[in-house]
Amino acid sequence: MDKNRKYDEVTAEIASVIGGETSLTARLASIGCLLAQAFAPRFFWTGFYEVDPLKPTELVVGPYQGTLGCLRIPFGRGVCGTVAASGKSLIVPDVHAFDGHIACDSATNSEIVVPVFNAEGKLAAVLDVDSTERDAFDEVDRAGLERICALVFA
Ligand code: SME
Repeated sequence: MDKNRKYDEVTAEIASVIGGETSLTARLASIGCLLAQAFAPRFFWTGFYEVDPLKPTELVVGPYQGTLGCLRIPFGRGVCGTVAASGKSLIVPDVHAFDGHIACDSATNSEIVVPVFNAEGKLAAVLDVDSTERDAFDEVDRAGLERICALVFA
């Protein structure tokens, strides 16, 4: 199926599953699960790093699907920390060429990270999707995942 259509479908499914649910953990866990299943096996690791309320310049791992992820990532470090610091999505076609990449699993070859903002427009988390394929993510993924991240606090 065309990737744009797949994103339309999974976005509608996510909106219907999380609609009315007030627990952030339940919302993030359900989004990660539906995304990982919709785009398996291209999405090898799919999950969220949340801003730690006690250490607001540090990310701490949240709900995810995949192999063991690093627990904490300071702002500015790795792909997730870079996105947390800039507030802008990032596609990394080859993680081995990304200076400061944090290798939680050496099977990862490319990744996309998208910021999640709360209702006040403050960064609350980042969505991290890793792939064992090189160059696995494009602008369709960026647009699709940004649309889904906008649902987290909608
Ligand atoms: N690849 C990330 C680290 C997190 S994991 O791969 C799950 C990064 O460099 O930010």
